[in-house]
Amino acid sequence: MSSSEATRVPGLPPRFLVKIVLGFRRWLLALANAMVPPQLPLFELATGIGRTHMLGTAARLKLADLLADGPLDAAQLAARTSRDPDAMQRMMRALVTVGVFALRRDGRFANNRLSNGLRSGRVGTFRDFADYFGSASNVNAWADFDGTLQTGKNAFERVHGMSVWDWFDRHPEERSVFAAAMGSMTQLDAPGVARAYPFREVRRVCDVAGSRGALLAEVLVQHRHLSGVLFDNAGVIATAGPLLGARGVADRVELSSGSFFDKVPEGCDAYLLKNILHDWDDERSVTILQNCRRAMKPGHRLLIVELVVEKQETAGIGPLSDVQMMMVCNEGRERSRADFARLLQLSGFQLSRVVPTPTLMSIVEGVAA
Ligand SMILES: C[S@@+](CC[C@H](N)C(=O)[O-])C[C@H]1O[C@@H](n2cnc3c(N)ncnc32)[C@H](O)[C@@H]1O
Repeated sequence: MSSSEATRVPGLPPRFLVKIVLGFRRWLLALANAMVPPQLPLFELATGIGRTHMLGTAARLKLADLLADGPLDAAQLAARTSRDPDAMQRMMRALVTVGVFALRRDGRFANNRLSNGLRSGRVGTFRDFADYFGSASNVNAWADFDGTLQTGKNAFERVHGMSVWDWFDRHPEERSVFAAAMGSMTQLDAPGVARAYPFREVRRVCDVAGSRGALLAEVLVQHRHLSGVLFDNAGVIATAGPLLGARGVADRVELSSGSFFDKVPEGCDAYLLKNILHDWDDERSVTILQNCRRAMKPGHRLLIVELVVEKQETAGIGPLSDVQMMMVCNEGRERSRADFARLLQLSGFQLSRVVPTPTLMSIVEGVAA
C-alpha cells in the first residue's frame, strides 16, 4: 500500500445518521418478517454459519480483488483459485442472495458495494475480519456455545486449551490476520477519535495494547506536537514498524513490549485503551486499569475508546460484538456508561465525560484521582 493510500480516509456518514438508518433497517426487517412465514427468516438466521464460512473463504481467496477489474463467471473464479467450478457457482449465488457480490444477466459475477468492502489494500477493508471470523479457531470456539451459556466462561479456552492471545502467540499467521483486521477497523475509527478529543491539552500519549499503532499514528499525524509510546505483546510490536513508517511518525513513537498485567510504560500524560477492556472480565479489567493508574500521576487522563452499549440497546453492532467477546475473549463484554464508571472508580479514576466520535465508538475519559 502506498503511503497516500494508507493515510486516505473515505468520508464516513455521520454517527446519528448511521444510528437512524440501522434502526430503520431493523424496523423494515421486522415488517418483512411479519409478512412471511416465520420459518423463512428463521432459516436465514439458523444458517448463519454458512455466511461466516462463505464470507471467510471469499475473503481468503480474495475473490473481490479478482473481480476488481471486471466481472468473471464462476468457472473463471474457480480456475484462478484452484477450486471446483460448480461449488464456486453455488457459493457465489448464495453470497449474492445475502447481498454480497452481484449476479449479472450474462451469468457473470461482479462486485457490489458490500463486496467492495472485502477488497484488500483499501482503508477500512473488512477482508481480514471476514477471514478472521471464518477461521477454524474462531468457529470451533463458537461450536461450544451452550458450554458458555451453562458456565458463563469463554469457549475459546475450553475448546483450544489456551486463551486466544496465547493461541495467537503460537499461530503467528492468525495473529497477523487478527492484527490486520483490528488495524483496518481502527483506521476507520481513528480520524474521528483524533479529531473529537482535545489532544492539544496533552504532550505524550501511550497506546496501551495498541496493536500495530493505527490509532496512535493517526493521533500523532493530526497533532504534530505529540510524541507517543506504543505498547503491546512483543510479537505484535515486532510487526509495527511498517505502519508507523508509512504514516511518517516512526521517529515520534517509542516501541515498548510487555504485558499490561505486569506494568504499563510510565511517563505519558494520556493513556489510550482502545478495544481492550471489552476483551476482559471486570476483575482483569480492573487489574489493567490499576496498572495504568500506577504509571500515571494525578490529573493524567485515561481514554477508553470502545462502544458504549446500554443494557436495553438492541440496535447496531453492540449486542453481537458483546457475544463475540463472551465466546472468544477472556469473559469479555461490551459495557454501559455506568459499567465504565464503576470500573474506573475501583481503579483510582473518576469518569469525567464520554465524548462521542463520528463512528459508533465513544471516548470514555477517566481522570487519575
Ligand atoms: C482487540 S485488540 C485491540 C488492538 C488495538 N488497541 C486496536 O483497537 O486496534 C487487543 C490487543 O491486546 C493485546 N494484548 C492482549 N493481551 C495483552 C497483554 N497481556 N499485554 C499487552 N497487550 C495485550 C493484543 O495483542 C491486541 O493487540
